[in-house]
Amino acid sequence: MAIFSFASAQAPLPPSVLAEIRDDLGPRRSGLSLLDLPFSGGEFEDIRAGAEADLRALLGLGDDYRVLFLQGGATAMFSLAPMNLLRRGETADYVVTGLWSRRAAEAASSQIDVRMAATGDGRSLPPPEEWRLSADAAYLHLTSTETAEGLQYFVFPDLNGVPVVADMTADFLTRPIPLAPFGLIYASAQKNLGVAGLTIVVIHEKLLRRVASEVPAPFSFARQAEARSKVNTPPVFAIAVAAKMLRWLRAGGGLVAAEARNARKAETLYSALAASDIYQCPAEVENRSAVSVRFQLAEAAREPQFLREAEEAGFLHLKGHPAVGGLRASLYNGVTQEAVEALADFLVDFAQRRG
Ligand SMILES: Cc1ncc(COP(=O)(O)O)c(C=O)c1O
Repeated sequence: MAIFSFASAQAPLPPSVLAEIRDDLGPRRSGLSLLDLPFSGGEFEDIRAGAEADLRALLGLGDDYRVLFLQGGATAMFSLAPMNLLRRGETADYVVTGLWSRRAAEAASSQIDVRMAATGDGRSLPPPEEWRLSADAAYLHLTSTETAEGLQYFVFPDLNGVPVVADMTADFLTRPIPLAPFGLIYASAQKNLGVAGLTIVVIHEKLLRRVASEVPAPFSFARQAEARSKVNTPPVFAIAVAAKMLRWLRAGGGLVAAEARNARKAETLYSALAASDIYQCPAEVENRSAVSVRFQLAEAAREPQFLREAEEAGFLHLKGHPAVGGLRASLYNGVTQEAVEALADFLVDFAQRRG
């Protein structure tokens, strides 16, 4: 029986990337396994530089953006972003639309007097026209996809020079984005770019040296940029996996093609959910995420039975985030169309048998 994971983290890797990693665990051309690479060696530097070059090509990054390969996850960035970007007395606007942006705002509030630019209701997203921007904010923070609630922003306006700081953990490299609004983008790798342990930071050089001297070196974006992310031992294996994912994304047609693949998966799943009234999708249609599909049963009491039968049929990790309950299917870059079609068939079948 085929097994398909729809987990939010660790999300599945594309089968071909997984196979390549398996091969690289044995001796590579240099004689060393991928797990044995010293971070100070030329072989690792080639991998890191290749990953950076592929990321730059995918996003169309100019020399004015730096790419950092850090640790700590997006959760660490909730604190490190304000620590690196705000001078004493400065503050920032936060768009709070769900669990993860709330956590980002809460973490920042231990350092600054956070301004709420907008708050969401968990089912829809306040559109950019409704954000209340402070005249003196150093940046505006948003979460491009709220994974727990299954909400996604599709437009990113330029905010008249106020840089946007975005937690893109859930949809980084799942679609093309306009770069101009963004001063800082961060994303944990375990959803769309490989395995846990790596956090990608893309930062505009204008924001790089705002408060560098006050931040401890491993957490200083400026120091890490100078040291090519090697202030201390970087997550070598996670970077090597990300390098393979980036190569895979480029070979597969870049972000335009990734967006088309992800949109097709989402369409397959949302259509199957819409075909029976035993399923409900709480998110408003125009804000529904293509990568984190939140749903529930009209009769919530039957969800344990749904999850049990799904697991028996090979569909794993469909439980919703505990903060919102219900069900969820994560459709990140590594999830195949085949997996989503199999899940859609299961949903139709379950509805017929149990509806
Ligand atoms: C949007 C978003 N931000 C942040 C995080 C936290 O990531 P990490 O556990 O790597 O810190 C998650 C985790 O699921 C997430 O979905």
